[in-house]
Amino acid sequence: MERTYVMVKPDGVQRGLVGEILSRIEKRGLKLAALRMNVMDEAIAKEHYKEHSERPFFASLVEYVTSGPSVSMVVEGKDSIKIMRAVNGATNPVEAVPGTIRGDFAIETGRNVVHASDAPESAEREIALHFEESEITGYTRIDEGQLYE
Ligand code: GTP
Ligand code: MG
Repeated sequence: MERTYVMVKPDGVQRGLVGEILSRIEKRGLKLAALRMNVMDEAIAKEHYKEHSERPFFASLVEYVTSGPSVSMVVEGKDSIKIMRAVNGATNPVEAVPGTIRGDFAIETGRNVVHASDAPESAEREIALHFEESEITGYTRIDEGQLYE
């Protein structure tokens, strides 16, 4: 089953959206395989967003994601990478359609509440960056027989 790395960013935690976001992920049928709350280390944040290191917003992005507790998770399911990107909605909340997390709860790109890996290679890299393999559980959800044909 495909795995992806998902984060509720510090604004999502501060705004009391953790339960709502976890609930949307679970109800969609995706499985929580690992879950942790912590303040992201600055070096980890820089590594996580290294593709943006030359962008003008890099310093503020690192400051934002390390500004308080965030919730990190490994989410598992068939096509979980594409599905989580769709659940989160467009990077710029102005373009995010209602029904997506960003389309329902965010206004600005620099405070867009959630993260999800954008491709299989980034999912693998980000999961390894944020979790030990021993922290990732393997179990069968009771509804999997109904979710998958
Ligand atoms: P993530 O899931 O967080 O990686 O978002 P994304 O994949 O939808 O977008 P991208 O990887 O291109 O950008 C990473 C993050 O950088 C975004 O989610 C924003 O928080 C931030 N970001 C991107 N572009 C801008 C920008 O132009 N201004 C500001 N302030 N932040 C930006
Ligand atoms: Mg991204």
